[in-house]
Amino acid sequence: MNETVKAPKKMERTSTVGRGRAVKRTEALEQSIWEDELVRVTCGDSVEQYRHWERPTCIVSDGGYGVLGFEGDTSDHLGLPEWYEPHIAEWSKYATAETTLWFWNSEIGWAAVHPILEKYGWRYVNANTWNKGKGHIAGNVNTAKIRRFPVTTEICVQYVFEARVSDTPLREWLIGEWARTGLPRKAANTACGVKDAAARKYLDKGHLWYFPPPEMFEKLQAYANEHGKPEGRPYFSIDGKRPATGEQWGRMRAKFRCPYGVTNVWERPALRGKERFSVPGGKAVHLNQKPLDLMTQIIAASTDSNDVVWEPFGGLFSATVASRRLGRRAFSSEIDPTYFYYGLERIKAEVLQRPLL
Ligand SMILES: C[S@@+](CC[C@H](N)C(=O)[O-])C[C@H]1O[C@@H](n2cnc3c(N)ncnc32)[C@H](O)[C@@H]1O
Repeated sequence: MNETVKAPKKMERTSTVGRGRAVKRTEALEQSIWEDELVRVTCGDSVEQYRHWERPTCIVSDGGYGVLGFEGDTSDHLGLPEWYEPHIAEWSKYATAETTLWFWNSEIGWAAVHPILEKYGWRYVNANTWNKGKGHIAGNVNTAKIRRFPVTTEICVQYVFEARVSDTPLREWLIGEWARTGLPRKAANTACGVKDAAARKYLDKGHLWYFPPPEMFEKLQAYANEHGKPEGRPYFSIDGKRPATGEQWGRMRAKFRCPYGVTNVWERPALRGKERFSVPGGKAVHLNQKPLDLMTQIIAASTDSNDVVWEPFGGLFSATVASRRLGRRAFSSEIDPTYFYYGLERIKAEVLQRPLL
């Protein structure tokens, strides 16, 4: 019998050395922070920055993909939950009921991170697919070798931060408040001045539940406080002192508007040509630069003028540039000094071309 027992193999950390870096600067940065009225960008780990930023209405996350896409990215999706968790924990500290998160990744990268997002209170809304089209692979894929269909997509998943009142999820709180009044469910229809929709939509305990629009919330609230058991008043109060207004209620969910005709499939070629930020000689600075039009679309859909957008993984600050053009306030950080330098050059060029009025 062989007496030698092999020591168990140590868990190896996945490599995090980025591949495909095209440009590297060795000079020290002259500035590691830059700001104007709408934008603040820093060079450094965003985990150290979040506490200095204003609360976000929208977070655009375009970080690790598990493909060694940049130095610090993991070599496969298995490392991504650990990579993202400190960021997601921080986002949840500063998010409000109005905050939307757009989570860019590969399909499998997103699947790996989804449970962490759920754990910290982010609720899935929709997965959007960016289809770069066949031009992206240009017929160059050896499918006999890779044994799968060639990939031409990335996804951008919409999450909202779960709204709660006194630690109770919003829907349960609303239904619970109505129950507390002692009024029958169907009295909600009388309250809202409709035949049967209110009880069915706003007090539904399942997936048919609808967020009452602020004017309907005000009607429910006013009726409850007038006709509900006197000893339970105030009803529908967020601070426990006075009933919530329609305006307060309206701020209990994330903003969203969809331009006519936009669906969850975004047909758009990969970034090329003039928009790709390059050094003299034509080398692209960052292989993961995202198209401005897609960034603009998601930010415009989920924020209003002057709202705050976070871009935790700046790269060349595409979400920040899009935010600035839309008149939103952006906070971003980039950990890699080379990318920060060129990202800042891009912002400065933007400021010259499009000064704030
Ligand atoms: C996928 S790229 C983002 C590209 C960007 N969306 C654009 O359009 O240019 C991710 C970037 O996040 C940066 N990064 C990674 N970890 C970071 C961290 N903890 N804090 C700040 N930046 C980080 C990487 O250096 C990389 O440039």
